[in-house]
Amino acid sequence: MIPRHDPELKAFASDNYAGVHPEILEAIARANGGHQISYGEDVYTEALQDVFRQHFGETASAYPVFNGTAANVVSLRSMLENWQAVICAESAHIHTDEGGAPEVAAGIKLFTVPTPDGKLTPELIDTQAWGFGDVHRPQPGVVSISNTTELGTVYTPAEIKAICEHAHQLGLKVHLDGSRLTNAAAALGVPLRALTTDAGVDVLSFGGTKIGLLYGEAVVVLNPEAARGVDYLRKTYMQLSSKMRFVSVQFEALLAGDLWLRNARQANAMGRRLAEAVRDIPGVEVPRPVEANAVFAILPPEVTERLQKRFRFYTWNPAIGEVRWMCSYDTTEADVDAFAAAVREELSV
Ligand SMILES: Cc1ncc(COP(=O)(O)O)c(C=O)c1O
Repeated sequence: MIPRHDPELKAFASDNYAGVHPEILEAIARANGGHQISYGEDVYTEALQDVFRQHFGETASAYPVFNGTAANVVSLRSMLENWQAVICAESAHIHTDEGGAPEVAAGIKLFTVPTPDGKLTPELIDTQAWGFGDVHRPQPGVVSISNTTELGTVYTPAEIKAICEHAHQLGLKVHLDGSRLTNAAAALGVPLRALTTDAGVDVLSFGGTKIGLLYGEAVVVLNPEAARGVDYLRKTYMQLSSKMRFVSVQFEALLAGDLWLRNARQANAMGRRLAEAVRDIPGVEVPRPVEANAVFAILPPEVTERLQKRFRFYTWNPAIGEVRWMCSYDTTEADVDAFAAAVREELSV
């Protein structure tokens, strides 16, 4: 059967527009054949625990789920009492892009904080971390941060450590939405645990889909005292895969060697290349730092409209003509150069 799409055509809309990395597909094929116990009692899921522990330390336990929204919902629900709430950035994916899943599916109250760059700080956390003991106010229970952030910025280990120390002093736990944690670690040249376990993060949503998996994310409990009932909640929230071996083997292929790092470095390098290629084009503004694989740009709306007919990407803030361009692990230099040339062409029309 011939493909229904052009396999050479790349978009700049999201890193989940990309297909599956060939090494992941090979791993899925290796796990195929024969029978394995279902619902996570297979040999691949068992082996996965060691792989996660090598990256995140001896206390880590990983629970594969289907998608990132569910990883966040299961993580947060496992960390909170019924009366507790989450403090997060106003731009956080859990607040802006999950269809209200934390609120609707898990009944979780979110306290949002405006931030210029998508990052929380101890001072910003304090704008919502108050009212402890007041039965009228939802009780702050968890601080949730994303790395990379939704605005393409990257928290350093020191920034995360400062947040965790502050949160823990207040009796709050820390959740990290690591849908793009691999991009953050590659951008800084640090191990995954430097941004999580070593910095004091309690529970992590670890991303796989955006970095080359067919599908799959994982709830990773780093501090066993911070989460309760993850195995039960994963089922309750419809995330217990019966053929889990095929999710687990993908993570093994991603994390046992350096595939995660190769993929993240490529996506980040293409982000940098794109920013440099468009930065000096008259009519383009790159308003935010480009620290990983996301590039934000401000363009005249009619240029955006013409460009979107040639390449898919999303408008981020129509009020100011801001768009977001994402590079993925399979974005090539030629893809970036062709896109930058198209930006230049459409601006000179
Ligand atoms: C920061 C962040 N967290 C979570 C998710 C959720 O992932 P999913 O679309 O798999 O539910 C995304 C997806 O875009 C994301 O960008």
